[in-house]
Amino acid sequence: MKTLVCVWMMICLCCCAEAAASDLLRDSAVSWLGALPCGSWDCECAFSKLQGCCCVSSALDDLEQATFIRMMGLWDGLMRLNTQVQDITAGCKIAFTAAMLPMSGCFGPFTSNMSISYQSVSLNQGNGYNPALGVFTAPHAGLYSFSFTVYSKPGSSGERLYQKLQLVKDGTVLASSWEDNREDSEDSSSQTLLLQLRRGCQVYMELLSGRQICGDTQGLNTFSGFLIYPSSDELGN
Ligand SMILES: *[C@@H]1O[C@H](CO)[C@@H](O)[C@H](O)[C@H]1NC(C)=O
Repeated sequence: MKTLVCVWMMICLCCCAEAAASDLLRDSAVSWLGALPCGSWDCECAFSKLQGCCCVSSALDDLEQATFIRMMGLWDGLMRLNTQVQDITAGCKIAFTAAMLPMSGCFGPFTSNMSISYQSVSLNQGNGYNPALGVFTAPHAGLYSFSFTVYSKPGSSGERLYQKLQLVKDGTVLASSWEDNREDSEDSSSQTLLLQLRRGCQVYMELLSGRQICGDTQGLNTFSGFLIYPSSDELGN
């Protein structure tokens, strides 16, 4: 029992001595004011004149090299992304709005469906709209919004309102607005629709054969459209 206590006390003393020694080392390291003796424990230091860092200089060098390579990689990726964004968004400011020229008489009736050339163009960004033909040709694939307003005023009440217009995409009728009555002396209607278009798709308005638009003295018959967001041609349906 006595031996055990003695051994225990000795261990305790040793510990105290070890702690005192490490405290001493730390204190002298912290209070060191002179130059670090770098030269003597330089491990292949390329910057042997620099003091205090010689032993890590090769590791720092490696880190610098690795950081540089990663930054070059990031830069490269950024440039590629930038090019992709530019490819997608180039020429994507597409919007037009046009109205029929004011008229006191009537447009129509004709013996066949007649495309309407809205000739008074107030906006044509991206030049997709051709006022001579009244045809919009999509300069870029994407989702588009189109609107049209039909207005007709045959004249005195009792005269027949007899209009029918249709929005056509590449020969296919997608929307229509019509009127056939003798109760109203004037009437109008509007429609908006969203279309997924490929580049080169054509959208235009037609007046149906036998129908007519009359008395629009203020250019109230309008046709407009704009690109909501672009898509790649492969995605366009
Ligand atoms: C005119 O449009 C109507 C309605 O969409 C259609 O039924 C008719 O076939 C068209 N006429 C011609 C000549 O394309």
